[in-house]
Parts: sequence; structure tokens; C-alpha cells
Amino acid sequence: MKVFISGASGLVGSNCLKLFLEKGWHTVGSYFSFETDNTVFYDTLLPDHPMNFDIEEFGPDVIVHCGALTHVDYCETHEQESYEKTVQSTINLIAVAKACKAKMVYLSTDYVFDGKDGPYKEDAPMNPLSVYARHKLEAEQMILKEIPDSLVLRVTNVYGNELRGKNFIARIIDQCFNNQKLMLKLPFDQYASPACAWDIARAMHVLLNDNKTGIYHIGGSEYLNRVELAKIVLSYFPDADYELIPISTAELKQPAARPLLGGFICNKFLGEYPDFVFGTIDDYMKAVLAERKDWIN
Ligand SMILES: NC(=O)c1ccc[n+]([C@@H]2O[C@H](COP(=O)([O-])OP(=O)(O)OC[C@H]3O[C@@H](n4cnc5c(N)ncnc54)[C@H](OP(=O)(O)O)[C@@H]3O)[C@@H](O)[C@H]2O)c1
Repeated sequence: MKVFISGASGLVGSNCLKLFLEKGWHTVGSYFSFETDNTVFYDTLLPDHPMNFDIEEFGPDVIVHCGALTHVDYCETHEQESYEKTVQSTINLIAVAKACKAKMVYLSTDYVFDGKDGPYKEDAPMNPLSVYARHKLEAEQMILKEIPDSLVLRVTNVYGNELRGKNFIARIIDQCFNNQKLMLKLPFDQYASPACAWDIARAMHVLLNDNKTGIYHIGGSEYLNRVELAKIVLSYFPDADYELIPISTAELKQPAARPLLGGFICNKFLGEYPDFVFGTIDDYMKAVLAERKDWIN
């Protein structure tokens, strides 16, 4: 299998790149502003940029589109930029995929739902509440219409290993390792199904191997709010100096509306792959601490 991954310097893309290379797939991944050892430059907004990796010459069977503007509150106040980085970038990659006769994989979100009655199955009615969410929905629908054998994986609350350590869990872990005081004001009423980026890559690998198409919800088995999530991570750092203030979403006044009961029912994926096991936050924390034995000894 030949795969091109846009946004392979980010959380999901870098895990896909690592796994696919380990599995022996001929894989090239791109960065945009954060160059990493094993990535090439590609700007999804400027397909004719002279520095762009030549995807058509590479001729992938699959293009995995992880490049995006993922800052939900920023998108709310920068609608045009959000459109360009989520919808226009997808339009541009669809054209490349068609030229290569490649299938696409798109990473979408539980924010396509309004969070009134989650967790959600794939066919639940959609009602995006924010600019980011509307653009993600537009992009996923466009891909499925233009390239019908494509895959859309909806994910949420992604955590895992990444060079910049910018995801929610990684930031808590880094601050604990660095003995920094943590001030955490977190919503107790936003629920989701956190997923490890490595598990998302593993799920994508089996789905691509079996040439699956359509929408799949990919999430871990835990259904947690942000306070519960942080408490699990903090429980591994008994000496951590932190203040954790649970707060309602209404009081938090985030610029973009959030689906409160988000997250996924993953029966479709798990029905097709009954032996597939998603890791838990505890599994991830134990693995992180095992890698940092020097810290605990
Ligand atoms: N993380 C989550 O919790 C979550 C939840 C739901 C859905 N998703 C979706 O999953 C996908 C991947 O998310 P992520 O968390 O891995 O995001 P991320 O870590 O922020 O990575 C985003 C990637 O996009 C690249 N990028 C940005 N602008 C680009 C451009 N103009 N051309 C090409 N690449 C560009 C970035 O490159 P540089 O860093 O090199 O600039 C980076 O590699 C996104 O579509 C996101 O909406 C994520």
C-alpha cells in the first residue's frame, strides 16, 4: 500500500506515519510549519507551491488528510481561515486524489453532533454547533460525495505521543514531570470518548487493509468528562502541585459552543473487528511512566 499523509507532523498524522512505516507500507507524510525528521513539506492551501512534495508523482493508493486548523475557539472568530484550512484544503486534496485515483481518509469529529443525547452512532442526526464543526461536516460530506470509496473516521479528545506534546493529557504530564504548579479550570459537563492516536492509527490500518469505506466512529471504551480525565492522569503523580476547579461549560464562556454529551458508540467498528482492543487512559499512563522509569526510580 502507498500512502500519503497530510499533517504528519501533528498528533494523529505522526502516529499514522509511524505505524504504517512499521507495517511496511510505503508511506510519505507532510509537515507545514513544524518540520520533523521524516516529513516532507506540503501546503494543502497552495497545491502549486514550488516546495510541495509531488504527490501525483508519488502516486499513492490512499491520501490520509490530517492537516487542519484544530483550535475550535480560534475558528469561531476566524471563520474565513477556518473555511480555508478545513474545507478548501479538503477540496484541494480531493482534486489531487482524483488525479492519482487514490482513496481518501478524512479525520472528523463528534462536534458534528449537538451533544444533547450522546454518545452517538454513525447514523445519528447531525447538528453542528460551531464554525469548526460546520466546516468539518462540510469537508467529510464533500469527500464521501466526490470519492465514494473513501473513509471518514470520527474521533474526539485525542491523546498520545507527539513531538510537541500539545494535547490535553500530554500537557498535564509534562507539567507534572517538570514540577510545575497546575491551575486547571475544567468543564465537568463536557463528555466524550477519548482515543489514543496510536489506536486511531491501528484502526485506520485495519480498515484500509480491508478496503472499508464510509463513516466509522473510533473511540476508546471510557466515557469521561474533562475533570474525570484530568483526575486519572493526576492520580499517577501523587506529589503533583495542582488546583483543579470543576466548572460548567456555561460559566467557562468558551467562544465556540461545545456538544456536552458528545463521544461515540463504536459498535460498527467493534462489530467488524471484535478482537480489536482500544487502550484506556490507565494503559497509556502506565506506558508513559514505564518509558520514564528514570523519573520514578
Ligand atoms: N486532536 C483531537 O482531539 C481531534 C478531535 C477530533 C478531530 N480531530 C481531527 O483530526 C485531524 C488531526 O488532528 P490532530 O490533533 O493530529 O491535529 P494537529 O496535531 O494540530 O495537526 C495538524 C496538522 O495539520 C498540519 N497543517 C496545518 N495547516 C496545514 C496546511 N496549510 N497544509 C498542510 N498541512 C497543514 C500541521 O502541520 P504543522 O504542525 O507542521 O504546521 C499538522 O501536521 C484534524 O482533522 C482534526 O480536526 C482531532
